Amino acid sequence: MSIPGTLDRSRLPQHIAIIMDGNGRWAKERGEDRVYGHYEGVVSVRSIVDACGELGIGYLTLYAFSAENWNRPKAEVDALMELLVNTIRKEVDDLKKNNVRLHVIGDFESLPDICQTELNEAIDMTAMNTGLNLVLALSYSSRDEMARATRLIAEKVAGGSMQIEDINDKTLASHLYTSNFPDPELMIRTSGEHRISNFLLFQLAYAELYFTNVHWPDFRKENLYDALLNYQQRERRFGKTSEQIQSDKPGQVH
Ligand code: FPP
Repeated sequence: MSIPGTLDRSRLPQHIAIIMDGNGRWAKERGEDRVYGHYEGVVSVRSIVDACGELGIGYLTLYAFSAENWNRPKAEVDALMELLVNTIRKEVDDLKKNNVRLHVIGDFESLPDICQTELNEAIDMTAMNTGLNLVLALSYSSRDEMARATRLIAEKVAGGSMQIEDINDKTLASHLYTSNFPDPELMIRTSGEHRISNFLLFQLAYAELYFTNVHWPDFRKENLYDALLNYQQRERRFGKTSEQIQSDKPGQVH
């Protein structure tokens, strides 16, 4: 599937965040075990990483495992961790070749040692890449992230290196896992649920939200193009009026 000519390459989001939902339902519809859906989900991950690289997107954040996902049956959690390790092992050379830089956000230390080792290696191996930044949210909870940032700020205040009156939204942003990334302009959730589910609550403040009924294992390049075309039809106002936005446009006579 080639990039549609109707997509304006000069107005793409810099950062896309995705809640990859529906692996279990996709597998169940086929009379298969949930884990089968996660395996096919990895094929979609590959396809979307590829598409983002081709489009020149700067950042892609994937919600691969939430802090709440630890409560799933042990067999499924183990299968997901194994899948993560095997996928990273298998894909790291291609990530390197395709100029993709890997990052992880979330409670990294709570991941099994083997996952941490594999991820650290892949993070190091891709650290010099300058193309797409692929951010995996693993053992991630946005509320925990904000609590952690608050603790870091409180420690600085207690230690005297920061004043209470200097704390603002930028201070909080700079203590989140995502401090070095721009906020996502587009958040996609697959599989029909209309929720944020503790994902990037602070960072998604002005993001356009796009929901599709397509299950994640069926979500491929053409579905991403649809989401991007939909995004480009929206007017992002940031609290301003439509008239103000129109007159702010470059080349416009005021
Ligand atoms: C949600 O579907 C999906 C997950 C909890 C895991 C997503 C993981 C992958 C796609 C594979 C690993 C990823 C990488 C980056 C290697 P669900 O199980 O909640 O589906 P359901 O809502 O239909 O039950």
